[in-house]
Amino acid sequence: MRTEQPKVIHLKDYQAPEYLIDETHLTFELHEDRTLVHAQLVMRRNPQQPAGKLPPLELHGQELELISLALDDRELGLGDYQVSADTLTLQPTAERFVIDSSVVIHPERNTALEGLYKSGKMFCTQCEAEGFRKITYYLDRPDVMSTFTTTVSADKQRYPILLSNGNPLASGEEDDGRHWATWEDPFRKPAYLFALVAGDLWCVEDSFTTLSGREVALRIYVEPENIDKCQHAMDSLKRSMKWDEEVYGREYDLDIFMIVAVNDFNMGAMENKGLNIFNSSAVLARAETATDAAHQRVEAIVAHEYFHNWSGNRVTCRDWFQLSLKEGFTVFRDAGFSADMNSPTVKRIEDVAYLRTYQFAEDAGPMAHSVRPESFIEISNFYTLTVYEKGAEVVRMIQTLLGKDGFRKGSDLYFERHDGQAVTVDDFVKAMEDANGADLSQFKRWYSQAGTPRLAVSEEYDAAAQTYRLTFRQSCPPTPGQPSKQPFVIPVELGLLAADGSDLPLRLEGEAAAQGRSRVLAVTEAEQSFTFVDVAERPLPSLLRGFSAPVKLEFAYDRDQLMFLMQHDSDGFNRWEAGQQLSVQVLGELVGQHQRGEALAMDERLLAALRTLLGNESLDAAMVAEMLSLPSEAYLTELAEVADVDAIHAAREFARRRIAEALFEPLWQRYQANRAVSRATPYVATAEHFARRALQNIALSYLMLSEKAEVLEACLEQFDQADNMTERLTALAVLVNSPFAAERDQALAAFAEHFKDNPLVMDQWFSVQAGSPLPGGLERVRHLMNHPAFTLKNPNKVRALIGAFANQNLVNFHRADGSGYRFLADQVITLNAMNPQIASRLLAPLTRWRKYDAARQALMKHELERILASGELSSDVYEVVSKSLA
Ligand code: TRP
Ligand code: ZN
Repeated sequence: MRTEQPKVIHLKDYQAPEYLIDETHLTFELHEDRTLVHAQLVMRRNPQQPAGKLPPLELHGQELELISLALDDRELGLGDYQVSADTLTLQPTAERFVIDSSVVIHPERNTALEGLYKSGKMFCTQCEAEGFRKITYYLDRPDVMSTFTTTVSADKQRYPILLSNGNPLASGEEDDGRHWATWEDPFRKPAYLFALVAGDLWCVEDSFTTLSGREVALRIYVEPENIDKCQHAMDSLKRSMKWDEEVYGREYDLDIFMIVAVNDFNMGAMENKGLNIFNSSAVLARAETATDAAHQRVEAIVAHEYFHNWSGNRVTCRDWFQLSLKEGFTVFRDAGFSADMNSPTVKRIEDVAYLRTYQFAEDAGPMAHSVRPESFIEISNFYTLTVYEKGAEVVRMIQTLLGKDGFRKGSDLYFERHDGQAVTVDDFVKAMEDANGADLSQFKRWYSQAGTPRLAVSEEYDAAAQTYRLTFRQSCPPTPGQPSKQPFVIPVELGLLAADGSDLPLRLEGEAAAQGRSRVLAVTEAEQSFTFVDVAERPLPSLLRGFSAPVKLEFAYDRDQLMFLMQHDSDGFNRWEAGQQLSVQVLGELVGQHQRGEALAMDERLLAALRTLLGNESLDAAMVAEMLSLPSEAYLTELAEVADVDAIHAAREFARRRIAEALFEPLWQRYQANRAVSRATPYVATAEHFARRALQNIALSYLMLSEKAEVLEACLEQFDQADNMTERLTALAVLVNSPFAAERDQALAAFAEHFKDNPLVMDQWFSVQAGSPLPGGLERVRHLMNHPAFTLKNPNKVRALIGAFANQNLVNFHRADGSGYRFLADQVITLNAMNPQIASRLLAPLTRWRKYDAARQALMKHELERILASGELSSDVYEVVSKSLA
């Protein structure tokens, strides 16, 4: 908790450490009512610092009860050191020395889930970013890298499995029913990568032979009841290891790689060296209990954490301002993996939809920050969409500009040059430059300037000269602390479509010959024109193909042009994008009608376009499903100047009903054909079947709007008979949102009864209800908080119920009386004392107050002020609330 004015940490104040730690030897004695931690630190003066008088040594430490402290075997007394709430300071007397400390900590009372804590019956750790200081006194900063030996001792019956980083070294029994194990991690690492696990765990085992022929043992540890849900994660791990060898030339380095699943975890997973700790939701998956989306999430997170072994662990961050160095790059790497394992176009569509809905909103709000932030109060608040997803887009743009081969040369150089080091974003970019002889100095503004650039494009066709000119104007709105911005380097991939839909050859003025039919132009100035020559007919431009830069593109397409692009664009992403833009236009018109109190009437061209799509059986089913999905209410909110929640909801629901009505026949046919396949084939988690089920399920969600008896019957059949969670949960969700109250209540009860012992499935059950836009949403959520399966102590439960309500149920959360806001603020205040990281993340929807009408703005701000005045705030919540009100 905050006791004084919070300190702001600035990147510009970075200083290299005064001392280094070469070896760390830890001993943990785990007990039910306390844990004793002994640390021996073999230290020396940082040789990069000037010689001469030795400065004091300031170790980090929080909530530690110091039992003993020694310097080079000399026991220190009270006058020899100073202790504050988060430091311990002492005076070294030689260049090299050894510190021995013993502290008592209380994992059994740790509800913040940071440091050493208990999740159910097991002990586990989460040290990133600054959790290690809650375990022992240490230089808890990523540029201090040490080898670790760790001995864990615990009661053998309760905790038969004792794990830490690296390779197992020795183990033994004591005569009092306790046992111990020692692990050794030879790779120097920062403390944030430390991990320890103790529990009654079972594991599935496998092995992987690396490219150079070394055999690596693979183990996934889970609580015994989950042993049947690990195969998908294990398969994903092996595919990840192979992919990183093939695509990046990266091999695994230890003899063993372990994953442990825990139920209480603040994020998705953590890349601790050799011992990844995962939220159970990111490991466990099998047909009966996890949806297709959950299977794909497991595959992506397993890959992400595994890829960190190189992008994060072998080469780590100098300081936390460089967080995107490992996170942006690793998200980029896992996206490439998922694209290769499934459909690249669908993966890109999902990523872009997510970025534009949530990262763009963050970039336009009070917490907006650059990919490399300049300052922070609480680093936990900077594990953001900007650092992760926009950071990945920035890396992707480097690849677009350098080409795939050039990018690989750059990453090879980066890993080789910086292996074993703690480095910066500049080092990453420098490696890319050096390997390619490129100059990325202007490009680096993507790391330092916040906000989403706008890119307005206009065209000019000269039929006589056969030239076609595109003019690009870029600008970027002000963000906190950055009133004006310099031009970015914006890679724009584009093509020019002829009247028959084909791509024209692209020759720019001054070029000897055409260079392909889809190419990347780099827009580097505030205003810049490109003139194409030999353009025999007026073309239709396809701009920003594959979403080649994270910008808001503006080009005045009319609806017929968008329909043409939807059908003919050679870029799959842009075909989808044309459909989205068409839908945005049509929905915008409906929003206007609703606001003026007019009867709603929808542009039939959208229906025609979707009908053509559904009629074409040769199209990829996953693409058809994506194209049938209207832009979400959250995305429409982001696009609006002032979001009218009720009008957006009404417009979108009206459009969905019109689609259901007009396209009932083809939807019904597609539904039945795919449901028949589902009935006839046992569940398989492959891209082909993900695609088929996606189409089947979106068809069902439209069809149920018809309220026809035969559809209800089909839905109930799917709910009862499906052999997998993807079909069952969709059936449940559409029932929950339907007017069939009796069937809905019965399905909810049956589902809960059947899955009451599976917390991850119960999370889905909570989410489906929390997201329902039917009136009375807040009352339902309040009621569900009393359900025996709900607890505020478990972050997955908080996200599933409260998070889903505030983020996905916009009409209910934004109810005009402010009751949704008051409810959320109450939960934030309660959680602030229990788990500051979760409290602070839960707050995000309230920080978006500028998007809404004056009445709602006042209500939202009032709740932020109430939180601010509620007492001792964690630095996490304090930072977000105070910046939101600034
Ligand atoms: N480095 C983790 C990742 O792979 C992020 C993470 C896991 C984290 N747990 C955390 C960050 C707790 C902050 C706090 O992305
Ligand atoms: Zn990560």
